Amino acid sequence: MTGTKIDGIEVAKNVKSQVKEIVDDLKSKGVNPCLATILVGDNPASATYVRNKHKACDEVGILTKDHTPAANITQNELNELIQKLNDDDSVHGILVQLPLPKHLNEFNTTTQILPEKDVDGLTPPNVGLLAIGKAMLVACTPSGIIEMCRYYNIDLEGKNVAVINRSNLVGKPLYHLLIQNNATVTTCHSRTKDLKKICLDSDIIITGVGNREIFKLTPDMIKEGAIVIDVATTRHEGKLSGDADYPEIIEKASFASPVPGGVGPMTVAMLLKNTVTAAALTKGIDIKS
Ligand code: GUN
Repeated sequence: MTGTKIDGIEVAKNVKSQVKEIVDDLKSKGVNPCLATILVGDNPASATYVRNKHKACDEVGILTKDHTPAANITQNELNELIQKLNDDDSVHGILVQLPLPKHLNEFNTTTQILPEKDVDGLTPPNVGLLAIGKAMLVACTPSGIIEMCRYYNIDLEGKNVAVINRSNLVGKPLYHLLIQNNATVTTCHSRTKDLKKICLDSDIIITGVGNREIFKLTPDMIKEGAIVIDVATTRHEGKLSGDADYPEIIEKASFASPVPGGVGPMTVAMLLKNTVTAAALTKGIDIKS
């Protein structure tokens, strides 16, 4: 069997056109959606991600404010910058690009962000709201994956889903979204026993390890007709790749997402959606669909 490509660029385009309509509507109501980004230091991969986020904001009419403190900024200085953006009414979303340099603490940083401006869904109030099914702002990669499934009519109800990632930005929020869609979820990680067996028993495998030296998802690990969503982005043999080799996995899967061109564009599209959601909330408008 050769499966169908889950084309993240196409789904992202669809989300962006919905966001653009919301931006235009908000502007007509006097709200000018604005995202502030903070990129600490000069990690080239992070710089590329932030550049892509700004470009996407431009495309849909979302304003951006770009903050690029040097790698040696102190925790106090970084917290002060976030407080300033919290107090700035023209800023609706705040994103601190991760990872941070080693001397800065991720938790101490992200928890400074006002929950209603937390477009990464990382603050404890937003994590808690998601866990009880009342999410306001959800991490962009997991919500992008759910959006991809919706676009391709992939029904999650009753499906066995293996998620190979347990991070705060991907695996944990994804678990909640999947169970809210009535899937049965197995969250796997580096200590999971019999990973291959779990994968072979799964209807859907969402993989996000990102290190080919320790893990690769190969066709012998999936059942015929399984759905594979590859969240990883890593450099392998000089090119960008995921945990799976798309050309070989699509021969056995019913659907699979490539890298690049899969989940990555969806993360950016959902960031735009979260920014307009946050902007709309300032006027008491709930735009969730
Ligand atoms: N680094 C990699 N992915 C993300 C993301 O979704 N948000 C932030 N803030 N940093 C990231």
